[in-house]
Amino acid sequence: MKVTVVGAGAVGASCAEYIAIKNFASEVCLIDIKEGFAEGKAMDLMQTASLNGFDTKIIGATNDYAKTAGSDVAVITSGIPRKPGMTREELIGINAGIVKSVSSSILEHSPQAIIIVVSNPMDTMTYLVHKTTGLPKNRIIGMGGALDSARFKYRLAEALDCPASDVEGMVIGGHSDTGMVPLIEKATRNSISVSEFLATDKMDKIVHDTKVGGATLTGLLGTSAWYAPGAAVSEIVKAIALDSKKMIPCSALLSGEYELNDLCIGVPCILGKNGIERIIEVSLSDAEKSQMQESAVGVQKTNSLLD
Ligand code: LAC
Repeated sequence: MKVTVVGAGAVGASCAEYIAIKNFASEVCLIDIKEGFAEGKAMDLMQTASLNGFDTKIIGATNDYAKTAGSDVAVITSGIPRKPGMTREELIGINAGIVKSVSSSILEHSPQAIIIVVSNPMDTMTYLVHKTTGLPKNRIIGMGGALDSARFKYRLAEALDCPASDVEGMVIGGHSDTGMVPLIEKATRNSISVSEFLATDKMDKIVHDTKVGGATLTGLLGTSAWYAPGAAVSEIVKAIALDSKKMIPCSALLSGEYELNDLCIGVPCILGKNGIERIIEVSLSDAEKSQMQESAVGVQKTNSLLD
């Protein structure tokens, strides 16, 4: 499998690194507009191959999409990241133009590629790729839910004082501070509802801390996070590469699922060689349902800012 990662900034480089380390792809092409930058990151990463034990070849390119030709998957991380105090929605103006031109350049050289959208505001950028490319909906995947669910599990494990591998949980809804819907009522530790271990105020705090997970890191780092976003992307790409049919919450174009239409929002997806092979409609409690509907209103509001 060949994977293109557009944008060699912190998130793009982290995607390339985790994809390479997991050793399921034959080639990763990192591409950036800044002269020599992607080539430099690719070379630096390739020099870890013997140390980290991977066989994936990583190449870099400066805006030369011919080098991306024949990619099975392309990850779009390009655009500006948020600064402390900014919402993801404020990035729409600049990032929409970038995402539109990048997706068309990718498809020119890799007409069969599955596109994974990371750039923010992620749900709206995923919708934009649908609107501008007309690709079948299984081939466009927004990565937010994979990341938000990992942050949810981190907070659950922290509160339960246990390893993250003991917990299960999903975040659906929009990838925004107000739009995320952490499914705390369904979260478990070793199949046991977390409500058996945690008081309501603790659970409320987990939900809150999960929703502002990205903003918390932006405040600490001065820019957007990259390790968990990169790792989340690598898990999505791995599910496609291995045709594993893994269930990962991703932003998908909905046509009636969850009583929603014509928007991209986080829902549990079965991922395989065809991208999003199925959307799972879990039964939601009344509270979860109304949170999901509210989240959709927020995403639609941001979508309406697209030209
Ligand atoms: C975050 C960015 C990637 O949540 O949206 O860290």
